[in-house]
Amino acid sequence: MKTVFITGATQNTGLAIAKYFAIKGYQIAISSRSIENAEETAAELSKTYGIKAKGYALSLVDVKEIKETFEDIKKTFGGLDVFVGNSANLGVGQDILAVTEEEFDAVMDVNIKGNYFCCQQAALLMKEKKKGSIVLIGSVHYRGAVRGRGLYATSKGAIATMVRSLAYELAEYGIRVNQVVAGAIRTNRWDCLTEEEMATRRANWPLGIESTGEDIAKGVYYLASDDSGTVTGTDLTIDSGVLTCLLKYDGGSQAGDMYDYAKRN
Ligand SMILES: NC(=O)c1ccc[n+]([C@@H]2O[C@H](COP(=O)([O-])OP(=O)(O)OC[C@H]3O[C@@H](n4cnc5c(N)ncnc54)[C@H](OP(=O)(O)O)[C@@H]3O)[C@@H](O)[C@H]2O)c1
Repeated sequence: MKTVFITGATQNTGLAIAKYFAIKGYQIAISSRSIENAEETAAELSKTYGIKAKGYALSLVDVKEIKETFEDIKKTFGGLDVFVGNSANLGVGQDILAVTEEEFDAVMDVNIKGNYFCCQQAALLMKEKKKGSIVLIGSVHYRGAVRGRGLYATSKGAIATMVRSLAYELAEYGIRVNQVVAGAIRTNRWDCLTEEEMATRRANWPLGIESTGEDIAKGVYYLASDDSGTVTGTDLTIDSGVLTCLLKYDGGSQAGDMYDYAKRN
């Protein structure tokens, strides 16, 4: 039986990924900063899907804690087949002219250092099996800026670079490394939005509809499975088309002006 470890998997996208792998019969290790939430979610997964599951407390800022978690995964599950780096400090509302060292470290420690050392520990376990798949959850922000989220965008840029260099260096051990470049996912942060606010959001995206956690999970599962056996170092973008356009045509934007110019000439 195969084992997957997913970080930050007690809610939203991470939980949807855990459920998807559970349906496919995987043994599941999940983490959260809250041990209560991790254990409760693991028990629920185990009960619902009839699989072995265990929850870990992991803040991702402490390398010793990361190593201990992977040691326990080996002891509990006998090894690791798939690692999914889903946890992220979402770094919202950070003005570049006012960012402090503490704010910088809080984002980079989780998103870069945490993922890097998780990948290192996952690779050490996968090397024993001469096979494994690592999938990191990246973001459209690595390609495009949003005001106040520069630290988050910088960290997701590092994820993209990390994926390529790990993929290259770990290929000789049969370990593949890829990222899902996610954008426009529906989460519990949407719960407080009105229908009108949701419509405004959707209007910004070429496909006009958000992804669910399950949409992301299907992409992650493809990258984890043997169906992608020769795929490594790549990006699978699941973003409702966000990255396809420079400016969405709205009749009055700069893109609209160019469209009118093209028609006149
Ligand atoms: N939602 C989107 O539209 C979107 C778009 C692009 C990319 N993504 C990426 O998708 C992944 C999942 O995000 P999500 O939107 O589903 O949100 P989420 O559930 O809020 O974030 C994932 C998990 O990360 C953990 N986390 C949050 N802040 C943290 C911190 N400061 N330190 C350590 N862990 C922290 C939380 O787990 P615990 O509280 O249980 O520890 C959380 O459940 C992330 O990598 C995110 O960057 C999301």
